[in-house]
Amino acid sequence: MKIAIVTGGTKGIGKAIVLKYLEKGCYTIIIYSNDDVTAQALKSELDVQYKNKYEIIKSDLSNIEKVKNTCNIIKNNHKKFDYLILNAGVTNRNGFDVLTIDEWNYIMNVNLTMPFFLVQNLSDYIVRGGKVIFIGAVMGIYPHAVSIPYAVSKAGLHMLSKQLVKHLSPHGITVNTVVPGFVDTLWQKDKPLEQRKRIENKIALKRFAVPEEVAQLCWDISQNDYVNGSLLKIDGGYCYE
Ligand SMILES: NC(=O)c1ccc[n+]([C@@H]2O[C@H](COP(=O)([O-])OP(=O)(O)OC[C@H]3O[C@@H](n4cnc5c(N)ncnc54)[C@H](OP(=O)(O)O)[C@@H]3O)[C@@H](O)[C@H]2O)c1
Repeated sequence: MKIAIVTGGTKGIGKAIVLKYLEKGCYTIIIYSNDDVTAQALKSELDVQYKNKYEIIKSDLSNIEKVKNTCNIIKNNHKKFDYLILNAGVTNRNGFDVLTIDEWNYIMNVNLTMPFFLVQNLSDYIVRGGKVIFIGAVMGIYPHAVSIPYAVSKAGLHMLSKQLVKHLSPHGITVNTVVPGFVDTLWQKDKPLEQRKRIENKIALKRFAVPEEVAQLCWDISQNDYVNGSLLKIDGGYCYE
């Protein structure tokens, strides 16, 4: 049985990825940080169909010691795994004038720094033919009025995935980044309707993606051995001008 690790797997895009890999027969290791109620609800949902086919680990992946501990737990329990999907991400919409160094560092840690150290700590345990998939964002490609550290962290993540190709390809492991535009998760649901309409008007397909569409692309990449070092945009034809 193939094994997948999904960070931020309890909600939104990460949950859709978890469901996709379980549906395809993978044992799935799910990591989240804070929201125990949602994690418990997911557990109840998964137990109906996938009991003993998954595990859930609570760990704050903004912290290097917790990242190392989590990797050790995984390495102690599993000799090898196949898919590493680095999806956990956070944003902060505080403006240019008020953003603090702690807020900046937190976003960089979760979105960029710790994904690197997760790969560094786990890469020896990924099988030949294994796949590392990062979840980037179109905000890391196009400049935007808000969320400066988010955009910068995602731009860094896009480059990180390309950098890692040289290190992991000799081991038979591909590295790619799925780059969503706007996806209907809780993250987007608190946006005022007007703002949402403005965004939809910049999307050729005139709608946000659903998380399952992003999850399907992750799965498709994990079934293809020749896609490597790519940023795969899934944004419905977003044009920011
Ligand atoms: N939604 C969009 O429109 C969109 C667009 C482009 C890219 N993306 C990217 O897609 C990814 C998922 O987004 P989403 O909208 O599905 O987000 P979401 O609904 O907010 O879910 C985020 C997940 O990440 C986990 N997480 C957050 N901080 C963490 C930490 N420090 N350690 C471990 N886990 C942590 C959360 O766990 P807890 O809830 O327990 O904290 C949750 O499971 C992110 O990387 C995001 O940047 C999203």
